[in-house]
Amino acid sequence: MEVAPLRSLKHLFENNLKWADKIKTADPQFFAKLSKQQAPEYLWIGCSDSRVPANEIVGLLPGELFVHRNVANVVVHTDFNCLAVLQFAVEVLKVKHVIICGHYGCGGVKAAMENKTHGLIDNWLRNIKDVYQRHEARLDAIQNDREKLDLLCELNVVDQVANVCHTTIVQDAWRRGQALAVHSWIYSIQDGLLRDLNFSFSGQEQIPPIYRLSEIPKPKKLSI
Ligand code: CO
Repeated sequence: MEVAPLRSLKHLFENNLKWADKIKTADPQFFAKLSKQQAPEYLWIGCSDSRVPANEIVGLLPGELFVHRNVANVVVHTDFNCLAVLQFAVEVLKVKHVIICGHYGCGGVKAAMENKTHGLIDNWLRNIKDVYQRHEARLDAIQNDREKLDLLCELNVVDQVANVCHTTIVQDAWRRGQALAVHSWIYSIQDGLLRDLNFSFSGQEQIPPIYRLSEIPKPKKLSI
């Protein structure tokens, strides 16, 4: 009996050769051009779920979509990883759109709806329990578990869009007059289709007053 190649994922390297060949056949200069710069217009913040491959869903090639993924597409203001991606995308790459894309039937959101223990990840999923708590009356009124989960998946996207808009990064960009829109999308694994939840923001005046930050005052010159 042949032993499974635990230490070498040869088939993935073979796939890679085929993939690179296919792209080079379509455009012989593709990788040469791409290696010089990346200039994506979009930042995608989505779920790590293997069934939601960001580039493929929207038919974009490498170089066209900057991507951050984590379990249940959560944006936490103390998550240095997510903030670093957002800052680089907005301030250096100057993306024009930030897309928060959730998906129906999200396992992370489902786990957050339950009381089962899963280990360290429960600390991460706690953020989604906060979303539930904020919309408790609306969610508790739904009897069907599937419908409840789908609504929480949508509400989670909307809340994460708000979190993105409340960052200093996005507010600074808006104050500078940078064109930047933040979008709320949801994807269905069942039919492969995206839906716009129509909560999009493109200016500081659209966020609640309590979150609006004024300009950082310029340091005063010392007079000696
Ligand atoms: Co998910």
